[in-house]
Amino acid sequence: MLPSPFSEADGLRKVSLAASLRIIGRGSLNWLAERPIVVSFEVTDACTCYCKHCDHGGPRDETRNLPPAEYRRYVQALRPCVVQVSGGEPLMRDDVAEIVRAIKPDSPVPYTILVSNWTLMTEPKYLELRDAGVDQFSVSLDFPDDRHDAFRVHPGLYRHLESLVPRLAALGHDDIVLNCCITSENVTEINALADKAREWGVNLCYSAYSARRTGCRDYFLSAPEQLMELNRQLDRVETRRDHTNWIVNAPTTLEATRQYFADGGAPGCTAGRRFLVVTADGQLQPCSMQFSRYPLEQRERMVREFSGANQCGECYVSIRSYLDKSFRQLLWENVSGFLSVSAKGN
Ligand SMILES: C[S@@+](CC[C@H](N)C(=O)[O-])C[C@H]1O[C@@H](n2cnc3c(N)ncnc32)[C@H](O)[C@@H]1O
Ligand code: SF4
Ligand code: SF4
Repeated sequence: MLPSPFSEADGLRKVSLAASLRIIGRGSLNWLAERPIVVSFEVTDACTCYCKHCDHGGPRDETRNLPPAEYRRYVQALRPCVVQVSGGEPLMRDDVAEIVRAIKPDSPVPYTILVSNWTLMTEPKYLELRDAGVDQFSVSLDFPDDRHDAFRVHPGLYRHLESLVPRLAALGHDDIVLNCCITSENVTEINALADKAREWGVNLCYSAYSARRTGCRDYFLSAPEQLMELNRQLDRVETRRDHTNWIVNAPTTLEATRQYFADGGAPGCTAGRRFLVVTADGQLQPCSMQFSRYPLEQRERMVREFSGANQCGECYVSIRSYLDKSFRQLLWENVSGFLSVSAKGN
């Protein structure tokens, strides 16, 4: 049976049928018009953590950050069907709820995902952001215990998540997804992270480490025993799926993730064309790891110059895994993947 984003989640409809159709409708139009399906707004370059696998970390110059009202102009011009509000650490911006309101003033489109480490998340903030229009909270978790603090260089973070995530999940909105970036350090923990998601009552999405951000290959899986462990862990993950779609990645995405590590890369990237990044100061970038920058008005030039010639296959992060597939797959698998917290009960 084809997955559908239209069904009920434990009696709670996360995205109404009308809203789902509008999101998919806009996605289809964008696909045909070669407009981006997903836009990731990096609303700040600063961060509360210093993660070992990332090139962000600590304070940055924030004087040139786009003010909230400017985001409306970008959404009107790019017309994405899915938006990620990311960074750096987006919750470092006191006006992040205002940004979300500017992104979706009065419409269910774009479907909006806050990608955050949750160091600064509180219950009132979560409720304020939901009210502002966040549809999905993507919370990074690399280890199912306080090794997470060491990897993110943020003492006390795991304890904070352990106390907050289950409490907010118990409110019943079913909009929290743990985001686990698979590295050589946590490959043995893939199922333990799934256990944690179950224990906390939330969903889980796997992503894959790329050495492109930092140039460090130590966290990439390449040794035969690492690849065997990855396969063992993901085989078990496949047996744990159920009708609730709590494992958000499509089976084809996890299959491609294995291939990505085995091959040392993944060709066919659509950065700039199907998805793009808006930097904190308002420039367009093809992705968060390619730094050719273009003004909003020159998106077509970016597609021509960058996307048309792009040979990079150095990551398989979720934004790619959702958008490198065929149009049909996008409609029936990828979009429902993005809306997976609304796709329970298929
Ligand atoms: C760049 S962070 C920005 C949002 C927020 N600070 C957070 O950590 O969730 C977004 C995601 O990228 C992931 N990430 C960081 N470095 C990465 C890398 N080298 N390869 C793949 N994913 C990476 C993080 O684990 C996180 O889930
Ligand atoms: S992964 Fe996120 S939390 Fe970690 S340094 Fe990068 S931006 Fe900050
Ligand atoms: S594969 Fe694509 S998304 Fe990934 S770093 Fe290269 S250009 Fe960017």
